[in-house]
Amino acid sequence: MSNHIENDLEQSLTEKSKIAKWINDRLPIISSIENTLLRHPYPKNLSYLWSFGSIAGIALVIQILTGLFLAMHYVPNADMAFDSVEHIMRDVRYGWLIRYMHAVGASMFFVAVYIHIARGLFYGSYKSPRELLWWFGILIFLLMMATAFMGYVLPWGQMSFWGATVITNLFSAIPIVGEHIVAWLWGGYSVDNPTLNRFFVIHFVLPFVIVAMVMLHLASLHTSGSNNPTGVEIKSKKDIIPFHPYFTIKDMVGFVAYFIIFGYFLFFYPNSLGHPDNYIPANPLVTPAHIVPEWYFLPFYAILRAIPDKLGGVLMMFGSIAILFALPYLDKSKVKSGAYRPLFKKFYWLFLVNFLFLGWLGQSPAEGWYVIAARISTFYYFTYFLIILPQLPKFEKTLPLPKSIDDHYQSLKRKK
Ligand code: HEM
Repeated sequence: MSNHIENDLEQSLTEKSKIAKWINDRLPIISSIENTLLRHPYPKNLSYLWSFGSIAGIALVIQILTGLFLAMHYVPNADMAFDSVEHIMRDVRYGWLIRYMHAVGASMFFVAVYIHIARGLFYGSYKSPRELLWWFGILIFLLMMATAFMGYVLPWGQMSFWGATVITNLFSAIPIVGEHIVAWLWGGYSVDNPTLNRFFVIHFVLPFVIVAMVMLHLASLHTSGSNNPTGVEIKSKKDIIPFHPYFTIKDMVGFVAYFIIFGYFLFFYPNSLGHPDNYIPANPLVTPAHIVPEWYFLPFYAILRAIPDKLGGVLMMFGSIAILFALPYLDKSKVKSGAYRPLFKKFYWLFLVNFLFLGWLGQSPAEGWYVIAARISTFYYFTYFLIILPQLPKFEKTLPLPKSIDDHYQSLKRKK
């Protein structure tokens, strides 16, 4: 295990400062932070793709902080919610900034997490000994989706109302108890004030559950150690460096790039990722022409609509995420990293393109050739996990792996 391998460390803060030592002797908070964060050993060949975990962490903090300020002015009442959001945008000092940071921030958070997952899928970071780490990740992803879905209902615009109606109605597909579950979720016989109230409460509390999950995610990461671009595990002291200063600096570069893109959307196109219909107050008597969820749900929405049967669609949609739990046991390859798997690479990139295509189909009308295409794409999505990954090792000739992480690192340096 990586954290049992010692590496050369800088002097501790408690050795450098008397005040730090005084505090630490009474509450060992400084040494804890140093040992679990700053001095923790990491493979020295981590690329920028490994910054997305920290970027997701920053995104979560931004959502919680801006959310707290929004909650000070937002009113979770069906008659006042829409106006209270407009009040935030127009009257509250910098309210527009807080609200746009929260709305654009949600999209940016999903971008970071999708890249984080795609990185894991490519480098086989879900494989032993990181199964638990991966499962905590999927739980986080599910919680994020639940949180985002309920958050989108809060402004009580047309898409809020109709999105909530369509998605909660999916549960009615469950035989016998389905209708009861839907009424129970709504707190009545339609999406209404009680629904809005409970969605607000749950939306407020779930991010803190996510924080707890992230802590478990990181505790598990620190036990198994980070994977790296070679997929070869840490073998000696030569393979590792402490997190600080190397990856603190590298992550900072990642943060700056992230904030530039964030700022671009925030200040120039804050509404481009949302739907204009959500600026129309919710009206239960007028159904919008096309009910579409937020962009980050679209691939799963396409899977839902690809299946002609309602219950079948719901099962496939949830199945498309549930299958990720089985992934550590579906992928039978002994070689972790996709960089050394020529055949895998091709199927992997096709999987990513197919996923984006599903997203595009999710916002297209569910008719004609779109439906056929969505069925083919859904078929490939499941085939990738259920057939390609388990069978591929039988046909694939993998490339020779480097002897160690240090070996790979030295060869990278020679190339430069
Ligand atoms: C709030 C959301 C999340 C946060 C804050 C977060 C945070 C982190 C951090 C800081 C790391 C270490 C740095 C890195 O490897 O990038 C990490 C690693 C990892 N995360 Fe996450 N994560 C989140 C969501 C997810 C999700 C949704 C998944 C997968 C479904 C996931 C799977 C992984 C895996 C497999 C690793 C180990 C990667 C490796 O060592 O190669 N994470 N995460």
